[in-house]
Amino acid sequence: MADVPAEFFGAPPQQAMQRLGAALWPLVSANPRFAYEGRFVAIDAPDVADLDAMGSLVALQGGTGAFFVDAAKEAALLAGLKARGLTTDRWDHLMADASAVPVCRALVENYRVPEGFVLRELGADTPQAEMAAFAAMAMDCGVNAPAGRAFRGGRPSVLFVIADAAGDIIACSGAVARHEAGSPFADASWWGMLATRPDVRGRGFSRYLGALALLAMADRHGKRRYYTGVRPDNAVSQKLCRSLGLGDHGLAVIAALDPARFGDVRLTR
Ligand SMILES: CC(C)(COP(=O)(O)OP(=O)(O)OC[C@H]1O[C@@H](n2cnc3c(N)ncnc32)[C@H](O)[C@@H]1OP(=O)(O)O)[C@@H](O)C(=O)NCCC(=O)NCCS
Repeated sequence: MADVPAEFFGAPPQQAMQRLGAALWPLVSANPRFAYEGRFVAIDAPDVADLDAMGSLVALQGGTGAFFVDAAKEAALLAGLKARGLTTDRWDHLMADASAVPVCRALVENYRVPEGFVLRELGADTPQAEMAAFAAMAMDCGVNAPAGRAFRGGRPSVLFVIADAAGDIIACSGAVARHEAGSPFADASWWGMLATRPDVRGRGFSRYLGALALLAMADRHGKRRYYTGVRPDNAVSQKLCRSLGLGDHGLAVIAALDPARFGDVRLTR
């Protein structure tokens, strides 16, 4: 995607990982075991036999993650990554199936964006300044947005934001289908990127945008499963995601980071 602006977001090691991941993806995208949403190239549903490959992804990008981790394998995988000198992290893998679609449709139909606020969709034609403003707002909430190319036609994706009367972006949600045809997860989409500026939380912005993003992945991209990583102690996000129909499936999300490059920086919230 030579004509796409270099929009890499987050703290320096997160930006570096996005830049290196963007360079790596074209080399491996034909192999359906790899997935990419604009932050890092990953191997999902890894086995212990994949630990060396995950270590290689960290060596190349500074970090990697894995969705669809079988909870029964999680401890062995995290131990194996730690034994390779890597910092690890984990989230609950919450997921919905197509039964979430009518729930989200009803929610979207019944919600009115409050006066003074406006819904916008970002995509291929979004000015770079607006894409950067979205990513900065998400980052202020601790959420590392994928590289802009993911939303500019690089991946099947959607991205919705709400702006206030001053034109500032105050809430966002998006989704990126990370998997290629041939993957066992080709019917599924990573979903979330939920972030709302602290002073306007609790008004339903995030639930509305999240529902809109899920619905758009179903209607436009034909995705039938929607998943995200949520920390067990993120009570608001846990409640919000579960209210949209995402739940437990005996799965986890894990991450491995090069401590020399990431230090105290996390992959995302
Ligand atoms: C999670 C987050 C996006 C929610 O945004 P929001 O726009 O306030 O969410 P909503 O207004 O749609 O609220 C969703 C639910 O959470 C509740 N909620 C929102 N803020 C809350 C708070 N501070 N304390 C308790 N409940 C809260 C709402 O009341 C609502 O539940 P209800 O319908 O039962 O009343 C926001 O808190 C945030 O940006 N957090 C930091 C980033 C983050 O954690 N993102 C998720 C990563 S997985």
